[in-house]
Amino acid sequence: AQHVPDILSPEFARDPYAAYKVMRESAPLFWHEAMQSYVISRYEDVERAFKDKESVFTTDNYDWQIEPVHGRTILQLSGREHAVRRALVAPAFRGKDLQEMFLPVIERNARELIDTFRDRGAVDLVDAFATRFPVNVIADMLGLDKGDHAKFHHWYTTVIAFLGNLAGDPQVAAAGERTRVEFAEYMIPIIQERRKAPGDDLLSTLCEAEVDGVRMSDEDIKAFCSLLLAAGGETTDKAIAALFANLLAHPEQLAAVQRDRTLIDRAFAETLRFTPPVHMIMRQTAAEVTLSGGTVPAGATVTCLIGSANRDESRYADADSFNIFREDLNATNAFSAAADHLAFALGRHFCVGALLARAEVQTGVNQLLGAMPDLRLADGAGITERGVFTRGPQAVPVVFTPVG
Ligand code: HEM
Repeated sequence: AQHVPDILSPEFARDPYAAYKVMRESAPLFWHEAMQSYVISRYEDVERAFKDKESVFTTDNYDWQIEPVHGRTILQLSGREHAVRRALVAPAFRGKDLQEMFLPVIERNARELIDTFRDRGAVDLVDAFATRFPVNVIADMLGLDKGDHAKFHHWYTTVIAFLGNLAGDPQVAAAGERTRVEFAEYMIPIIQERRKAPGDDLLSTLCEAEVDGVRMSDEDIKAFCSLLLAAGGETTDKAIAALFANLLAHPEQLAAVQRDRTLIDRAFAETLRFTPPVHMIMRQTAAEVTLSGGTVPAGATVTCLIGSANRDESRYADADSFNIFREDLNATNAFSAAADHLAFALGRHFCVGALLARAEVQTGVNQLLGAMPDLRLADGAGITERGVFTRGPQAVPVVFTPVG
């Protein structure tokens, strides 16, 4: 049998893609003792787990996996309760609300950040832009104080560390649980004020939203905001950094996008496939199920390796190449539940923020390319990716000639 590098090993963290390949070929389904989870890696199996309408694959695992940091969110809910609750928040993230409420905020936040370095000719895009832009957009949208950016960034990275605590480090777990308390102390008074004096922000919308006469409690709104910061901050942060890392590694594709900005969608879609921000998502089985790699018993946790499925050579030609022009990835569907990559999952829990992420990337990347027409990697710099649960470039140091 081929050697399968362990998910918790440094070897895996250095190059998960090589390990995924071995898994897909020789261990497409296996039990991981330390993680107490089955692991699946093929596109067809992960797709099936995500698309399943909760007859077999549920999100019941989130009761222990995310409840301690976020509280009860739409991720844990199922069936009609999930549909009703999701419908309270989904309209804000698409169509007219997205255009009218978010776009001006997105444009302004991108400009504010780029203004801090547009004259400098050199910048680390991760530190100066990617880790700030998505979370600032969400903070602004909710009507929170962006001056508290350091707090938000600390909270969401601590939450993500909790979720990615695959080896069960007690300190990481304790820090995650503390974050829940700190975030509640910060948010609950703001939610209560907003109920008395609503504004035109998303938090006020959430306070007033109603489906079937149901409103959200303060605790529910706090949990949702906590999810938004982590699910919308960490992910879009990693996606923007990875998009630039991928384009800088392929100068001809960077030049094409620089010339024709409508290609940003393709660059984003291919980045989500090639280097997804979220590498693994767990599900729980309600019944025994047979997959391409074998049979999983009922009541088991299953780790679905998105990072592997998106590189499955039986699904994508030349799967290990970054190619924004590939024909087997539809960039028009890439941000909808009809996506033919798995970076946003699929099915009932398909990312509710996918169109927001797309709008942020379109605007942010467009403005960055405008401010840095000749951007290139800083001399001698290499790009290192970090992370196992979520993954992205640690730094993207670039140089450019400032525009007039
Ligand atoms: C769900 C990824 C951006 C909010 C998800 C899921 C994934 C994902 C994989 C499914 C989780 C599961 O099925 O267990 C991403 C990626 C993003 C991104 C890769 C950026 C490139 C955003 C943004 C927001 C957001 C900007 C903020 C609005 C959510 C929420 C859910 C979700 C609230 C839960 C949906 C549900 O349970 O019905 N996301 N996300 N995401 N995402 Fe995103």
